[in-house]
Amino acid sequence: MKILAIETSCDETAAAVIEDGAKFLSNVIASSGELHRKTGGIVTEVAAREQVRSIIPVIQEALVSISGQAEIDAIAVTAGPGLIGSLLIGVETAKALAFAWNKPLIAVNHLIGHIYGNFIENTSSTFPAVVLIVSGGHTDLILLKNHGDYTWLGGTLDDAVGEAFDKAARILGLGYPGGPAISKAASSFIAGGATLDPSLPRPLITEPNFDFSFSGLKTALFNIVGSKSALPLPQEEIAALAYEFQEAAADCLVTKTIKAAQEFGAKSIMLAGGVAANTRLREKIGKSAGNIPVLFPPFKFCTDNAAMIGSAAFFNQNFVPWENLEPDPSLSLQGLPNVLD
Ligand code: KG4
Ligand code: ZN
Repeated sequence: MKILAIETSCDETAAAVIEDGAKFLSNVIASSGELHRKTGGIVTEVAAREQVRSIIPVIQEALVSISGQAEIDAIAVTAGPGLIGSLLIGVETAKALAFAWNKPLIAVNHLIGHIYGNFIENTSSTFPAVVLIVSGGHTDLILLKNHGDYTWLGGTLDDAVGEAFDKAARILGLGYPGGPAISKAASSFIAGGATLDPSLPRPLITEPNFDFSFSGLKTALFNIVGSKSALPLPQEEIAALAYEFQEAAADCLVTKTIKAAQEFGAKSIMLAGGVAANTRLREKIGKSAGNIPVLFPPFKFCTDNAAMIGSAAFFNQNFVPWENLEPDPSLSLQGLPNVLD
C-alpha cells in the first residue's frame, strides 16, 4: 500500500510517499524555521503563509519518486494538534487531492505520527512499548500495547520540554530553536570541564506518577541568570548552565520513562518528537534502561516530517470521508485510543 502523506502542523511543510508503513520512497521537507529564528520564535501567521507557498512544490517533489497518482492508494494528513493556520493548509490540500483523485483519506494525530518515526525502515520494535513523546508542544508517556492500542500514562503539567529548551536558550541568549543550541553549548562545557554551581531542580522526579513539570526548572534558570551582576555571562558560564539545564530535564524524562517501562513490563522503550534528537537524553536513557532495548528514530524522523505521518496512517488506518475532516488544533492524546472520536 502506497500512501501520500502530508504534514503541516507547525513551521514545516512536508510530504512523503510511504510503502507499507515502513519504506519511504520520498520524504520532502520545507521549513520556515529561518524566518522564525529572526523573531526568536514562531509567528503563526508567517508560518501559515509559508505553508501556502510551499505545499504544492513539496507535494510535487514527493511524487517524483513514483510514476503518477495512479500508484497512490490513500492520502494521509495530520489533523492536529498544531497551529490552526498551518494545519488548515495541509488538511484542505489533502481533502482536495482525495476528492480530485478519488482516493481514501486517512487522518493522523501528529503525536501518534511522532511515535511512528520509530517504525520507518525498522522492524525491531516489540510490544508492549513505553513511548516518551517529547516535542515543542508536548511531553507525554504512552503505553503502546500494539498498533492502535494506546494508553496515556502521564504528561507535563505545564510547559512541554521542547518549549522549556527553547525558553532556556532565550534566557541564555542562545537563539532559536533552543534544543540544538542548548545541546551545542552543553557539549562545549563537557569539553571545557568547568564546575557546576548551583544545580537546578528536578521537578516531580520522586513523585509516584508519570507526570512532568518544566516551568519551575525554566524559572530557576531565569533566577540564576538574573542574580548575576555581570551580564552578558561569560561563554563558559553559559555552557555550564546549558549543561545543567539539559541534565535536569533529561533526568526527569529518563526517571519517569524507566519507571513506566518497569511497571508495565515494557519490551522496548521508544523516544519520539523533536527532543528525541537530543544526544544526551539518548545516552542517559540508554544507560538506565538495562536490558530493555531503547529505540530512537533517525534524526531526520525526530523533528516534523511526513514519512512518520504516512507510517502512522498505514498502521492505524483511521479512514475519514473527506467531507468530515476538519483540523483540530488541540487534538489530544488523552482521549486515546480513539483519538479522532
Ligand atoms: O517535534 P518537533 O519538531 O515539533 C513539534 O511538534 O513541536 O519538536 C521541536 C522541538 C523544539 O522545541 C526544539 O527546540 C526541540 O524540539 N529540539 C531539541 C533538539 N532538537 C530539536 N531539543 C533538545 N535537543 C535537541 N537536539
Ligand atoms: Zn512535531
